[in-house]
Amino acid sequence: MSVERTFIAIKPDGVQRGLVGTIISRFEQKGFKLVGLKQLKPSRELAEQHYDVHRERPFFNGLVEFITSGPIVAIVLEGDGVVAAARKLIGATNPLTAEPGTIRGDFGVNIGRNIIHGSDAIETAQREIALWFSSEELTEWTPTIQPWLYE
Ligand code: RTP
Ligand code: MG
Repeated sequence: MSVERTFIAIKPDGVQRGLVGTIISRFEQKGFKLVGLKQLKPSRELAEQHYDVHRERPFFNGLVEFITSGPIVAIVLEGDGVVAAARKLIGATNPLTAEPGTIRGDFGVNIGRNIIHGSDAIETAQREIALWFSSEELTEWTPTIQPWLYE
């Protein structure tokens, strides 16, 4: 059984635009299992830690302002290859050039309002999940459809 997990955040623009249900549905329909789900307004400290890798980039302050500007929906998904597959479902960083059929490609037009975050590697996912969720908030469960998703 797979234990690969990724961290997804529906950013404030995705929440404000009423895309939460649609976005969660895409991951559910693909076959990934929800193991963590909550809405919160991130503190500046949490947002800065999350985007620590971009601290020296010119867009860092604007990005932190944006991420802390309203509620986000924090999600942990589990499944085989989920880190890379979720990035594929999310699409390229700039929604204007993201492929149609991807979340950013279907719903966005601006890099500063790109709706959703997804961990970029397995190690990043582990760091981000630990940053956003306590272990009690993550649910271990086996979907009854598991034999129909995995050989
Ligand atoms: P994310 O971390 O949010 O999932 O996005 P990503 O991996 O596709 O892109 P990344 O390079 O990690 O950039 C993080 C977020 O910073 C904002 N950004 N703005 N104005 C700009 O040139 C610029 N570049 C990046 C985006 O919101 C991007 O998602
Ligand atoms: Mg990134």
